[in-house]
Amino acid sequence: MTPPAYPLPAGIEALSARASQSPESGIVEVLNYGIGRQGIIPLWAGEGDVATPAFICDAAATGLAEGDTFYTYQRGIPPLRDALARYTEWLYGRPNSFERFFVTGSGMQAIQTAILLTADPGDEIVYHAPAWPNLPAAATIAGVTPVSVAMNFSETGWWLDLERVFAAVSERTRAICINSPSNPTGWVMPQADLETLLNFCRERGIWIIADEVYNRFVYGDVRNGAHGRPLAPSFHDVITPEDRVLFVNTFSKNWAMTGWRIGWIEAPEAIGIKLENLIQYSTSGVAGFMQRAALTALQEGDEFAESVIADARRGREIVSEGLKKSGRCRFTEPDGAFYAFFGIEGEPDTDRLGLRLVDEAGIGIAPGRAFGPEGAGYMRLCFVRRPSGLGEAMNRLNAWLTQR
Ligand SMILES: Cc1ncc(COP(=O)(O)O)c(C=O)c1O
Repeated sequence: MTPPAYPLPAGIEALSARASQSPESGIVEVLNYGIGRQGIIPLWAGEGDVATPAFICDAAATGLAEGDTFYTYQRGIPPLRDALARYTEWLYGRPNSFERFFVTGSGMQAIQTAILLTADPGDEIVYHAPAWPNLPAAATIAGVTPVSVAMNFSETGWWLDLERVFAAVSERTRAICINSPSNPTGWVMPQADLETLLNFCRERGIWIIADEVYNRFVYGDVRNGAHGRPLAPSFHDVITPEDRVLFVNTFSKNWAMTGWRIGWIEAPEAIGIKLENLIQYSTSGVAGFMQRAALTALQEGDEFAESVIADARRGREIVSEGLKKSGRCRFTEPDGAFYAFFGIEGEPDTDRLGLRLVDEAGIGIAPGRAFGPEGAGYMRLCFVRRPSGLGEAMNRLNAWLTQR
């Protein structure tokens, strides 16, 4: 056989700079190390141990059986977009339009698309850290420079100094990304800060990328949403429909659909055609039968979503108790999301600790540095799980701590 006339890629050096510089995820490193180990309790990723409920799976199966296997709307099927608008109205008590909603192949793709919509190569986006690493990584891959603003940790928990955010903004800044409630710190942005930031961005024509995927996971003394249950303060409370705010959201968390890869963006109507184009030239839309499942999740899945939120609330108590017991963990109870982000006295270097805990304690926890240098010295543990497994995980962690 004649060899091809062009040189075959020999390795990474043959790749584009963007691909070869794509960072390895520190969460995935522990996951790859521990996955499939006998008896391991995996608390490394942002998901629970309950599978997607049957009524949601059945809707997808019905779609498949009925031949819903063709190309479909790039923006998402109209009933799903409409249901997303109604769902958002139900939460925030403000009228909304289905034209603002775009179905994406995951929250991750929503973030990627939001970056592409707002920033060109060489531009900057500002974000607060420790942060879910996929955000800065997606920016880097798009040729956009992610500029981090370190959050502060004090006895009352993590907080963000807005003056530092404003100081990080340069002429090249196109967007500020706010993830509230935050993964991994559990910080929730106060409503007054949402307003201040919005005004700052309005004056400068800067976009806000609002990652509010954990909006229903809030604890302690919080206001209720229009739906009558706890809800984090949101840019929804302070914007007008024309404001340059892109909301990122997902079906992964509320409805235990992490493996499905389906989410959404809410955006000003005026940019709809460009958003549609970006979807066309990436995934060309989400499978119709999956969208039917997502629609069912919105229409019939509230009781289930509340059970996931209740698991997280109980999980937070179990983990807080467990971490306090050892007397060696530096930690405050998170106000939102479903992670404990904690340091361990006597273990300043947590980089290898995730791998060691897999071997030595049979638990999977992500190292803080996976969330940026600002997370060094911390570990992240996901507590959206059924109580029995979590209790056992805390016993294992405490047994391990007493032996060190
Ligand atoms: C802060 C944050 N944003 C977005 C996502 C995206 O979720 P998915 O890609 O599963 O929809 C996650 C997932 O863990 C997350 O933690």
